[in-house]
Amino acid sequence: MLAPTASAWRAHALQRTAAGPPGPLAVPARIEWTTRPGHGPGADVLGPDLRGRRILELGCGAGHNAAHLAHHHQARVIGVDLVGEQVRRARSHYGRLPHLRFTAAHALHFLHAPGEPFDAVYSVFGAIGLVAPELLLPAIGRRLPPGRILAFSVPHPQRGGRSPSCEDKPSRDVVTLPDRTRLPIARWEYATDRWDKHLRHAGFWLTSAQEFRTPAAGPWPTTLLIRARRF
Ligand SMILES: C[S@@+](CC[C@H](N)C(=O)[O-])C[C@H]1O[C@@H](n2cnc3c(N)ncnc32)[C@H](O)[C@@H]1O
Repeated sequence: MLAPTASAWRAHALQRTAAGPPGPLAVPARIEWTTRPGHGPGADVLGPDLRGRRILELGCGAGHNAAHLAHHHQARVIGVDLVGEQVRRARSHYGRLPHLRFTAAHALHFLHAPGEPFDAVYSVFGAIGLVAPELLLPAIGRRLPPGRILAFSVPHPQRGGRSPSCEDKPSRDVVTLPDRTRLPIARWEYATDRWDKHLRHAGFWLTSAQEFRTPAAGPWPTTLLIRARRF
């Protein structure tokens, strides 16, 4: 499953890089947790005062959310992405900002390497949901001291009328590229109770699960945002 997934994300990065504006960008005024820009909660999902906090994003893509946290909240942020092209893109947009660093790595490799603990870890349609939760959540737990926050948004498992997975297995999903090509990926499509089970096994308690809708996407929710704390 890993090889097609990695090449899909590389193709996604290459087309996004070719399509998007190169060079420095203005820092986004808000963090986007959902598929509906401008809606949904803000950075307080990660804690009330993020100044000086060490924050890790898993699957940062072009780095927009990481840049927001570093610039508008003075957090110390590391964005990790599997694909080197995404990291180069993120650096070209936001590499000028202090206290913000982007690194190319598989989320699991980054978390298992020796390194600092974090005050919060998050993912926005990033590595959480794209890597086996029974491996990724305990690896995140290694780098989060007790009481610290993990937050992640995933495509809602009932988007478009789908059904959540009834097993601890990934489902087939696709990444749609800017040219509309659809490439297969594996995605762990869990409902809240299955995330809760995996979080507890990994040493977290789930503190909230919120679902969000996008009017254009019909009656189904489009985003599931989960927040948990390390115990
Ligand atoms: C849908 S994009 C989301 C990017 C960004 N978080 C955003 O909201 O714009 C998913 C990102 O996760 C990255 N990714 C996929 N698998 C990963 C892994 N195992 N470790 C780190 N990053 C991964 C992809 O390369 C891609 O940039």
